[in-house]
Amino acid sequence: MEVKVLPVSRWKGNDQTMLVFAAEGSPAPMGWKGGEGAVKRLMVQAREEGFSGKARQAVMLRPEESDPARRVVLVGVGSLQGLNNEAFRSSGGEASRIAANGVTKGISVLFPERGDPAKIRRCAQAIVEGIILAQYQFGSYRTMPGDVKKPIEHLVVLHGDDISAKDLSAGVAVGECSARAVMLARDLVNEPPSALNPAKLAEKAQKLGGRVRAKVFDAKWMERTGMGGVVGVGRGSHVPPVFVWLHYQGSKPKAKVALVGKGVTFDAGGLDIKDAAGMETMKADMAGAAAVMAVMHAADVLKLSIALDAYIPIVENMPGGGAIKPGDILKMLSGRTVEVLNTDAEGRLILADALAYAVKDKPDHVIDIATLTGGAAVALGRRVTGIMGTDGDLVASLIAAGEEAGEPMWQLPLVREYSEMLKSRVADMKNTGEKREASTILGGLFLKEFVGQASWAHLDIAGTAYTDKDLPYSPPGGTGVPVRTLIAYLTKLSG
Ligand code: BES
Ligand code: ZN
Ligand code: ZN
Repeated sequence: MEVKVLPVSRWKGNDQTMLVFAAEGSPAPMGWKGGEGAVKRLMVQAREEGFSGKARQAVMLRPEESDPARRVVLVGVGSLQGLNNEAFRSSGGEASRIAANGVTKGISVLFPERGDPAKIRRCAQAIVEGIILAQYQFGSYRTMPGDVKKPIEHLVVLHGDDISAKDLSAGVAVGECSARAVMLARDLVNEPPSALNPAKLAEKAQKLGGRVRAKVFDAKWMERTGMGGVVGVGRGSHVPPVFVWLHYQGSKPKAKVALVGKGVTFDAGGLDIKDAAGMETMKADMAGAAAVMAVMHAADVLKLSIALDAYIPIVENMPGGGAIKPGDILKMLSGRTVEVLNTDAEGRLILADALAYAVKDKPDHVIDIATLTGGAAVALGRRVTGIMGTDGDLVASLIAAGEEAGEPMWQLPLVREYSEMLKSRVADMKNTGEKREASTILGGLFLKEFVGQASWAHLDIAGTAYTDKDLPYSPPGGTGVPVRTLIAYLTKLSG
């Protein structure tokens, strides 16, 4: 989809459908510059259709011959009080789905906001994200004609003369880039697990391109290096594990950040095998890795002034003959030993090595992203990511970035006393706690043992990385969470 910015006065796209926002209880569409008569006619029509301006409520309207657009989709953003960019993102997405419906090649959207440049940029970004992301389809495996909708070819953001086209264009460009990154992450998550095994995922990382440097290390290297966690988990599969390092060096970097992503291309559970229902979506257990790869790509496109390293351990967690067994003890890269009491708690085993490796390079901050525990979905549901960490400021910055990005997060406490539950009778620690209590926190506490004194945050995306339901701008499948959050956080850091 090609995205352009144009003053409304120069627009002649009457083959397109125009999206227009309206707030609840407000008499006129937002940003509308047309004549009084046209507005009245539209609003009367809208009311007849039962339109009240509630968030994501959308109606298709037919303006008169003389009006600028052939078809208008009016979409509500809820009340003006407490209006935020997520309302524009989700309402814009919803409206674009209705507009798309096969008949239009192009969509235009009337830019609704005014105000300071930062506000305009962020609102434009959110609208473009919502519209592009709502059109996402994973169609590469469909063969029946009609099952994949024709994609919208262009999107035009229309603005009044009182809005700086420069600010608007800047926001649009960021929105385009961030939406593309989210879709890259979604594509990787949606790919079948045998098509995207560890070797293939590593290949995708190598092909990110731009100025993102990549190195792929094989199982032999990991054995030599002492990554007992990754090597151990990888032993149950015919496909060997790999370790990917990515680097992006922005100019005049303001900070050096390490990203660590869980890359389990399929989690069968190992010998502690999952049941059928539990395994159904386990191709998505590499969503952390996918997000990290997408963010590396976006940082390069956006030319962020930071130094970024990504460390991605990639394995298949399978119950093959060589698999680690409950009771086995692994020697981790950090030198610690871990008694594996549940082979399905494999994420922490591979992340422990990746984190220990990442902190050796002395980054300013380390952020890991992982579909770590089913408990995250139990505690916080499917829309809120669990966050934990050793650095309150880092956690707060990430939560704020998540808010802006429409990817809410909630902090869970790393209760020191609970570490008791990770004590092993025979090794330095064990990889699971007791019963199913506080499993998300225990996951965090386990990882904390491998980050030393680093400023570290852990994002448990087990509930949020994948959706069975159709969400406002996320069809069923990978969601791309928390790509937008990380882009927002890193953009802020880069100044
Ligand atoms: N990949 C799973 C976590 C998961 C579950 C992600 C559901 C997405 C949806 C992880 O490896 C796992 O199996 N965790 C166990 C840990 C337990 C054995 C301590 C869990 O959460 O049950
Ligand atoms: Zn598991
Ligand atoms: Zn897993």
